[in-house]
Formats: sequence, structure tokens, C-alpha cells
Amino acid sequence: MVRLPERTHSVYLDYHASTPCDPRVVEAMLPYFADTCANPASSIHMDGRKAAQAVETARQQVAASIGAEPHDIVFTSGATESNNLAILGSARASSCGRMRILAGAIEHKSVLAPCRSLRHQGFDVEIIPVARDGQIDLHALTDMLDKRTFLVSVQAVNNEIGTIQPMSEICELVHAYGALLHCDAAQALGRIAITVGSSGVDLLSLSGHKCYGPKGIGALYVRGGVRNAPLESLVYGGGQEYNVRSGTLNVPGIVGLGAAAELAEGERRSDSCRIEQLRDCFEHQVISAIPTAHRNGAVGARVAGNSSLTLPGIEVEALVARLGDVLCSTGAACALGAPEPSHVLTAIGLTRADAYSTLRIGFGRFSTQDDTSYAALGLVRTVEAIGRATLAAKRRILGEYTHLIH
Ligand SMILES: Cc1ncc(COP(=O)(O)O)c(C=O)c1O
Repeated sequence: MVRLPERTHSVYLDYHASTPCDPRVVEAMLPYFADTCANPASSIHMDGRKAAQAVETARQQVAASIGAEPHDIVFTSGATESNNLAILGSARASSCGRMRILAGAIEHKSVLAPCRSLRHQGFDVEIIPVARDGQIDLHALTDMLDKRTFLVSVQAVNNEIGTIQPMSEICELVHAYGALLHCDAAQALGRIAITVGSSGVDLLSLSGHKCYGPKGIGALYVRGGVRNAPLESLVYGGGQEYNVRSGTLNVPGIVGLGAAAELAEGERRSDSCRIEQLRDCFEHQVISAIPTAHRNGAVGARVAGNSSLTLPGIEVEALVARLGDVLCSTGAACALGAPEPSHVLTAIGLTRADAYSTLRIGFGRFSTQDDTSYAALGLVRTVEAIGRATLAAKRRILGEYTHLIH
């Protein structure tokens, strides 16, 4: 392990994987674990009504953060469920006879997997290619759209390379063919402005733990209101959430998502400005010390906290393990136990070798300048140490080989 100045805490730079729950969010949630533990469906007593009121306040907060109406919001267990509900729920409820679904090549697996599963029900599922910077190829999308297209799914922000998609332009194209647009905005809330009215998206997924809220909670926005939406439920039971998502409501989680969404939109500009400076400073330090390193994603259209760096010749899984108290992620295998390189990195044209040499660093609300400098120094020194060790191993092997020849 490379020796760095003593520290009492680790440096968390994995904000794409999950964000710390903001202490203000935790505070808002606390009363709903024990003090007001009632089921919001128990409207017969005072605490049940209090819980129901807390849920409706959170619904308003989530709606306001994306420019929607409260009745457009259904609470779910996270963006995975929201994506599944949007795609499977709308496809199963569809009666228009349209059977074609298009999804971006760098979508999260919680979009790609439900889309692919619809092939078994006769849907024609096609993948929209992206350019080298990760942006949707709008010409390809135009060519792929036709009157049979029922749904298009494109994320607002990518979780590995941070690329921001031009949602309004995509929406215009999709609506011109009378299709629906679903947007996975799990990585977008608090990072870019989301205004469902002007962007025109029909369905939009959110996740609590990507915007400083708790894990296990999310929401789906449905244009025109959840009650009348052509959306078949994936979970049957007591008929909660307008009969679209049954199950006792996770009141503390919902309250947390509401508080997090309000803070995310309220602090978006100041957070982004500060975080961008940290990220740029980090990249400058790393790239000037390791000139072979290169950035992935749309450099001019990526979220402030994202840094996806390819370090040619460095096996990043080993690097991340050696970084010790600097906590970041490989850009290569984010799904559980996945041996394959990331589909995002290969879709933007990286070779398998470069995909395995790609590091994903995520800065966020609680990142500091001190953490950033420490992480850059740690990364550079560790890469140098790996380089020296590789060179020594090569020399040793060469020495042994020469000895054999003699
Ligand atoms: C873009 C994107 N979509 C969906 C998800 C799934 O979100 P959740 O963990 O809330 O199910 C993630 C999480 O990694 C994500 O980054």
C-alpha cells in the first residue's frame, strides 16, 4: 500500500453508486419510524392521518422538484422499480397495437432488461446507438422511429460517464411519431434542471439514494396523472398509490425522498458549481501526472461530479483495491458479479482492455478540496507504484528467460 498523509476518515468518491443521506433528510425522516409509525391507510385515527399528510407533502415536494403536479407521482422502491413499471406497465396496458420499443445503448440494466423481456411477448426491441461521447445518435433515432413505435426509453444522465442527453430534442422526435418517451432520471435530480413540462417526457424515474435521500425509495412521474394512466400494475394487493403500486407505503422513505428532492433542486446550482471545480482540479492533477490518462463522456455535456478516466495499461480493479481509503469504482463491472466489461464503455467505442482500465469517480455535496487533493495524490502514487511493480516483474521474467537461453 502506498503511504499517504495520515487521515481519520476515508474519502468517498462513489457518488454515482449512492449518495450519503443528507443529515437534514435524516432529521425529517426520524419522527416517522417510531413517533408517528401509523399506516397512512389508517385514516380512522389521528396518527394515520398524520402519516397520510406526510406522504402527500412529500408527493408535492417531489412533484415541485421536476415541475410536475402531485397527482403525477407514484412512489416506488427505487429507480429499478420505476423503470420496470414504466416499461412493462405501459407495454402491458397498451392497446394501440404498436409493438416497437427503442432504448438507448447506455441505459441502466433496469431499463434494458425489462425491454428485452418484452421480446417474449412479441415486442420488437431495438437499441439506439450512441456517439463516442455517449450522446444518443439523433439521426439513428430518427431512422429507427416509425408508426409502430410504442415507447422510447432514454436516460437523462449516464451513471458511468455522466453524459447528459438532449431530452427536449429527443422528445420532439419521439412525439412526432406518436410514441411515448420514458426517461430514467435517477442520476439527474439535483445535477441538472428537470422540467417535465418543457422537456415533454411522458414517464420519468427517480431514485432516493442518488439525490442524498434514503435507499429503497423512488418515484415514477406519469404525465397527465397516475390515476388515469394506461399503466398496468406490477404489484397487486391493497390498491395503494392509485391502484398502480400496492403495498403499505414506506412513510419514512417517502418523507426522506420528499425532503431530498426539495434540497436537491434548491441547492442544485451552488452544489454543481462547487463540485465542478473539485472535479476539474482532480482531473488536472491526475492527467498532468499521468499523461496517458483520458476522460470519457461528453466533456462539455456531463454532470459536474462525474469523472470517468481511462488509465491505459492499468487494471483498475487492482487499482481500486490498492487505493485503500479512497473509495471509488471501476467503470467496468457495476452489475453484481459481472465478468463482462461495462456495456456503457464498449458502446462508446472503448476496447475491452480500455474498459477494464477505466475508473469511475463521483464527487458530490460532501466532497471537499482536501479530499480531492488527497485522492488525486493517492491515485497518482498508486498508479506509479503499479507501474514500477509491473516493470520489475517484466525484468525478472526477462532475466529468468535470458538465464534459460544461456
Ligand atoms: C441510471 C440509473 N438508473 C437506475 C438505477 C437503479 O436505481 P435504484 O438503485 O434506485 O433501483 C441506477 C442505480 O444505479 C442508475 O444509476
